[in-house]
Amino acid sequence: MKVLHTIAELRAALPGPQSCAFVPTMGNLHEGHLALVRQAKAHGLPVVASIFVNRLQFAPHEDFDRYPRTLQRDAELLQGAGCDLVFAPDEREMYPQAQTYKVHPDPALADILEGHFRPGFFVGVATVVMKLFTIVQPKVAVFGKKDYQQLMVIRRMVEQFALPITIEGGETRRSDQGLALSSRNGYLSTAELSEALALSQALRQLANAYRAQPVALATLEADACARLAARGWQPDYLTVRRRSDLQPPTEADAAGPLVVLGAARLGTTRLIDNLEF
Ligand code: PAF
Repeated sequence: MKVLHTIAELRAALPGPQSCAFVPTMGNLHEGHLALVRQAKAHGLPVVASIFVNRLQFAPHEDFDRYPRTLQRDAELLQGAGCDLVFAPDEREMYPQAQTYKVHPDPALADILEGHFRPGFFVGVATVVMKLFTIVQPKVAVFGKKDYQQLMVIRRMVEQFALPITIEGGETRRSDQGLALSSRNGYLSTAELSEALALSQALRQLANAYRAQPVALATLEADACARLAARGWQPDYLTVRRRSDLQPPTEADAAGPLVVLGAARLGTTRLIDNLEF
């Protein structure tokens, strides 16, 4: 497996457009990322993984500076998972000038939920993913379903720009107790790690409550937030949405397909999770 740092090296290493399967990451990898690499590998094409902590998707008060950079360890893990090429550019390579041309995803999808609480986040994500797509030119790209809204934003971007790339979602990997694997779990203390399970439990409880009685959703959601807050969390949202467009379900949508999504801060760490139901 080669680790390449420049666009020129990567282009020279690939046989041409649509010749690889691609897994974009920000590094600090865990089993969830490696499962995406194995999923990409199943296409029988060389697998490229990128590692780039993308400043554009972090607000000034967020964790860009403390986001762990663990290239050596990441490369070993990727090699073990069967990755063929790692593209690990530095900021000067990705953004030699200020990136003033940006992709602005549809606000109906990108300014709600994560986009509401992290303004500009999806502009940063869509812009770097579009740039990575033009650099790597993959046939297939795999994104984790843990970032559910991100996966939808990327799917729509690919449709709207008619990019010849198949976008696949990879199932969220969880600890035995149910905690969604995330690079940000590394910020949690031992006590916070066991408390963190409460987020997926709250989502499950909200989904069950809505299934049992699909009325007064706003009250169910407010109750779910209040229960987490009572345990010391600061919830941004816990909400049931239609899978098709992440809008609140109408009565006619109550039978699904739905997804329950949540984001909440535990201490200084913001966690997100979701469950399809
Ligand atoms: O999900 C991530 O790790 C990032 O948002 C991505 C897709 C690699 C873009 O920086």
